[in-house]
Amino acid sequence: MKGVILAGGTGSRLLPLTKVTNKHLLPVYNAPMIYYPLWTLVNAGIEQILIVTGGRNAGDFLRLLANGKEFGLKRLNYAYQEGEGGIADALRLAEDFAEGEKICVILGDNILEGSIKLAAEKFKQQTHGAHILLKEVSSPERFGVPVFAGGQITRIEEKPASPASNFAVTGVYFYDATVFEKANKLKPSRRGELEITDVNNAYLREGTLTHSILEGWWTDAGTFESLRLATNLVAEGLARQ
Ligand code: DAU
Repeated sequence: MKGVILAGGTGSRLLPLTKVTNKHLLPVYNAPMIYYPLWTLVNAGIEQILIVTGGRNAGDFLRLLANGKEFGLKRLNYAYQEGEGGIADALRLAEDFAEGEKICVILGDNILEGSIKLAAEKFKQQTHGAHILLKEVSSPERFGVPVFAGGQITRIEEKPASPASNFAVTGVYFYDATVFEKANKLKPSRRGELEITDVNNAYLREGTLTHSILEGWWTDAGTFESLRLATNLVAEGLARQ
């Protein structure tokens, strides 16, 4: 399985921090944000990794990470997203890299305490479809939120005003090769983006979306509040070691 880190977008919710740099290069305690999703993929045994980024500071990723030697990698792959057409738009750039293999996609601002190794191993056994990781949160309205009926997800709503559950769809997604066909068929949402939630809903309609609950703490780091939380969680985790 190959890995894809999506690190494009404008990071406008963190202005002015993101005025002269990319959000994923900002510090989360003692490491640049992008290190965390990279560690997550590498710790899951994924060695072929593509970073999709964009904007004026894309070159800084190469300066920071080079071939990923520090992470035990032979090389890193990079793709450039023109504009900020959404998460599913960025994902489309991974099609050639994936070469028909299954992929694990992680959002560049998602920080996890635990490992996704088990979920990755399980997804390798899943013949087709997709797998998402859910986490119970106190403010589901900020995320993609699953609607359940009889223990099954019936649909996912993106940032619902009245969330149907207390779960967030985390930014870790496992997909088979049909993800690109699905992403290429999407129409922009009301906020003008190709939504990853619409990709996941396409798998749901097909009946091939499975899910599990993520162990350990999880947060994004794309707002001042969540960046502060991520920094604290990382610092507390290191202090416990
Ligand atoms: O963190 C999990 C949440 O991430 C999910 O629950 C939501 O369903 C999903 O839509 C997403 O929500 P956000 O509003 O937090 O996404 P955001 O626009 O902050 O983008 C998250 C990452 O995706 C960002 O750090 C980089 C990447 N991205 C985003 C956009 C809009 C790109 O690579 N290109 C883009 O054009």
